[in-house]
Amino acid sequence: MIISGTTLAKELKQDVARRVVEAKEKYGREPHLVVILVGEDPASQSYVKGKGRDAEEVGFKSTTIRRPETITEEELLTIISDLNADDTVDGILVQLPLPRHIDEDKVIEAIAKEKDVDGFHPGNVAALWQKLPCTHPCTPEGIIKLLDKAGIQIEGKKAVVIGRSNIVGLPAAKLLLDRNATVTIAHSRTKDLPKVASEAEILVVAIGRPKFVTADMVGEGAAVIDVGVNRDPETGKLCGDVDFEAVKDKASVITPVPGGVGPMTRACLMENTLECFLRKMEK
Ligand code: GUN
Repeated sequence: MIISGTTLAKELKQDVARRVVEAKEKYGREPHLVVILVGEDPASQSYVKGKGRDAEEVGFKSTTIRRPETITEEELLTIISDLNADDTVDGILVQLPLPRHIDEDKVIEAIAKEKDVDGFHPGNVAALWQKLPCTHPCTPEGIIKLLDKAGIQIEGKKAVVIGRSNIVGLPAAKLLLDRNATVTIAHSRTKDLPKVASEAEILVVAIGRPKFVTADMVGEGAAVIDVGVNRDPETGKLCGDVDFEAVKDKASVITPVPGGVGPMTRACLMENTLECFLRKMEK
């Protein structure tokens, strides 16, 4: 079974759109999401376009601030500080990666925790690991929602996450753990990775290498969630971290690339933005 992230994301966005109408009636304005894009990386441009499109689709006010790659760290921090102080802005997202001369950690920390719709602020990260209320990062949250939607029970399952990034691997493992899966975090240097991966009942792959996961790395009947967005070096087409054609008959469910986790990430971003807005307005 192929799990369509596109279909589920559409349902989630419809629900957000419905809640936006209510919120607008109650509070007199719609939520406002500001996305900052530095430079001209084609992948980042495409992600930011998608975020703006989804924001408009759910009825948000959407602003994209574009700055050249030559922007200084100080200039970027000033933009963020102004947005933090602006009461009409509810969510702030700085598209990553940033140019090398800008300290990404410093930028993420500069965003007000209450407007951090990515869930990347150290205050949100700490709260996640302390099991306190917080904004969940969008991709890990999207993965959990996909599994739930596909009817995959998480509790008691052996889950393997390949990848340990702050954005995806680590928080995805934490969310699976909080749902009572037994979680292994694997990576490119894991000894005998095919054996470790093939024991997974839920396999989440976020390693950023095209077709890294081959059929021998997947156990019969596993649920396979592919977070990768890569270019196939042979065809130049978009492809995941999983060799879809080789794995699809072994997996019980599998997410496609494109059309799997990607749309879910953006749908969860819309939910996070609405929730930041509501928390502010309900205060
Ligand atoms: N770059 C790749 N994924 C993401 C994401 O989820 N948020 C931001 N801000 N940048 C990214």
